[in-house]
Parts: sequence; structure tokens; C-alpha cells
Amino acid sequence: MADLLGGAQPYDPPSWFGRTAPLVLEIGSGMGESTAALAAAAPDVDHIAVEVYEPGLAQLLMRIAELGLTNVVLLRGDAVALLRERVPPASLAGIRIFFPDPWPKRRHRKRRLVQPEFVALAASRLAPGGTLHLATDWDDYATQMRSVCDAEPALRNTAADQPGGWTPRPDWRPVTKFEQRAHHEGREVHDLIYRRT
Ligand SMILES: C[S@@+](CC[C@H](N)C(=O)[O-])C[C@H]1O[C@@H](n2cnc3c(N)ncnc32)[C@H](O)[C@@H]1O
Repeated sequence: MADLLGGAQPYDPPSWFGRTAPLVLEIGSGMGESTAALAAAAPDVDHIAVEVYEPGLAQLLMRIAELGLTNVVLLRGDAVALLRERVPPASLAGIRIFFPDPWPKRRHRKRRLVQPEFVALAASRLAPGGTLHLATDWDDYATQMRSVCDAEPALRNTAADQPGGWTPRPDWRPVTKFEQRAHHEGREVHDLIYRRT
């Protein structure tokens, strides 16, 4: 695990992974269930997990060790600073944001991650053809994600022809405790996958 954001260590995925491969960034990996499972399922893809919650990163480290994964690097810190200051433009094959903090109270909504400025930044870091995959169990956040991403000229909704424009839940996305809780509490989960033009 690297404390990349506070230190002088360069951002250098080829040296971290010992190869050059498609690179996917997961923002807010939580306890790492999805990160570990998706990295194990895609050994030809390199994965960076960025998370501020250290106990979650520790859990992910244990999963990585248990599965013997060599295609995951963990970064501790703020994903927005990472994208803005370290990740080169047009360098990522994918960005995943699964169940970002919902900030459900109206007065807190400005704290939500998926806002126009952030989405423009994320889109600029995707290579052409790269994907931004979002999932949330909060209806109004899902609607906000749709409208913000629809308004970003560098992104196209891959499910524009689907009912409501939502991506059918991909069966390869693992069910985390956030999704289990949402089902338990009767909230619907929405996935959105946008492609960088
Ligand atoms: C609701 S949890 C979801 C975790 C995981 N994606 C899942 O589906 O189980 C959101 C996570 O995003 C992390 N997070 C929030 N803002 C972040 C940021 N700016 N940079 C990195 N991680 C962030 C939080 O610490 C938290 O662990």
C-alpha cells in the first residue's frame, strides 16, 4: 500500500506492476470485496484501488494476499487529488465508483463525489473508449449521476437504448454489503456505464 498522495513517490504503474497493461482505477474501494474479486477475474488488467479508509485498505490487503493477486495496487488518500495531480490524461481503461457515499441529506449533497467538475476530470483521465462505471442504491443520486454524465461532452451512455438509460446490473459486479443492505431496505440499485468518446 502506498501513501502516494502525501509523499514524493512517483505515480508509475508500469514499475508498480512490472508490465504495461490496461489500467482500471477504483475509487472508494471500501472493504475491497469488489476490487479483489474483479482483479482475480481479470489477470490481464491492472487495478488501482484508492481509498481514504485505512481499515478497508487493510482488509483488501488480506484479500490480495489470500488470492495471491499481483495486479492490484492500493493507494491511501483522496481520489480527486490523485486524478487531478498524478494520473495523466487519457491513461485509464476504466474508472469504477461503486456505492459512493450518498450524502442523502439535502444540505450535504454538495459533498457528493459525482458532480460536473469531478466527472469532467474523470473523463479527461480515461483513454478514448475507456469506461466510467457508477453504481448507487440512492435513487436521487442515480438521477444526479445520469444528468451530470449525460451533460459531459466527452462521455456517452452505453445504455442509452435501455429502459430509462440504466445499464442492466452486470452479473460480474460482486454484491457488497452496501448492495445487500440496499436490497434489505428495499432500495433499488442502478448501474451506469459511460464510454469516453
Ligand atoms: C459507501 S462506501 C462503498 C465502498 C465500496 N465501493 C463498496 O461498494 O462496498 C464509499 C467509500 O468511498 C470512500 N471515499 C469517499 N470519498 C473518497 C475519496 N475522495 N477518495 C477515496 N475514497 C473515498 C469512503 O472512505 C468509503 O469507503
